[in-house]
Amino acid sequence: MAERIDLYDSTYSHFTRQVLETTRKETFGQDIGQNSWTTIEEYDRFISWLDLQPEHHVLEVASGSGGPAQYVANRLNCRVTGIDANEAGVATANQSIANSDLADRITFKVADANSPLPFDDNSFDAILCIDSMNHFPDRLKVFQEWRRVLRPSRRAVFTDPVVITGPVTNDELALRSSIGFFLFVPLGVNEELIEAAGFRLLKHEDVSANAAMVSRRWYESRQRHKDALVKIEGEERFAGVQQFFATVHSLTSERRLSRIVYLVEKHDR
Ligand SMILES: C[S@@+](CC[C@H](N)C(=O)[O-])C[C@H]1O[C@@H](n2cnc3c(N)ncnc32)[C@H](O)[C@@H]1O
Repeated sequence: MAERIDLYDSTYSHFTRQVLETTRKETFGQDIGQNSWTTIEEYDRFISWLDLQPEHHVLEVASGSGGPAQYVANRLNCRVTGIDANEAGVATANQSIANSDLADRITFKVADANSPLPFDDNSFDAILCIDSMNHFPDRLKVFQEWRRVLRPSRRAVFTDPVVITGPVTNDELALRSSIGFFLFVPLGVNEELIEAAGFRLLKHEDVSANAAMVSRRWYESRQRHKDALVKIEGEERFAGVQQFFATVHSLTSERRLSRIVYLVEKHDR
């Protein structure tokens, strides 16, 4: 049975350390502070689906280090609110916008996406949620909350990085979920819950290739910088994280766990 591995606390607490910046650059090409399977090319494509204008307000659910939210605010000139359950992530995000001219357009707060969101009805023009849906146990409730805070006819884009599309062993599932709570669903469940919550599914696409590429590059880059990383993480955690990335790579490249992106739109009931 796989041991529980801390990925988020340690990563966000040391986010600006040189070796972490180097491994992100080697992994993603352009480092926007992402801690997921997305690259800038992919992120640009996802946000282009949201039909955003400068006056719009975006909610990023599970905003991590805050880097991707800042990228969206800069690129589209819009407002962004990011929530994440990880206090170290939100602290890193707040530090990175302190004294910047983005501070009046971006807000980060600690909030659990599983709970009622701390926002009024019809507050946002779009929702973005990258590689995090698998951490929320009651997906229908999460979608219902998204629908409540979204303005009518507005859109949300999210990825589910662990959709079951092939045979997976118990050890593989345990390794894939060694970093925290995980909900695995087979193909078709997201589609049903999206409709049940009052959204229309506009598009869904298999984007496993990005996760297969990023997990391989991340593994290889970390291996090259092993000595510096072990000083931060210790031998045991370094090995656990490497095993995690290797498992993500084999499961996604073989399409046994697939990463799917969904674009949905709130409709009137
Ligand atoms: C794979 S990371 C993705 C972060 C970010 N979206 C990105 O692309 O860099 C998953 C994120 O989900 C957050 N998370 C996990 N459970 C959560 C919850 N219940 N509510 C809010 N955020 C949560 C973690 O703290 C982490 O930042």
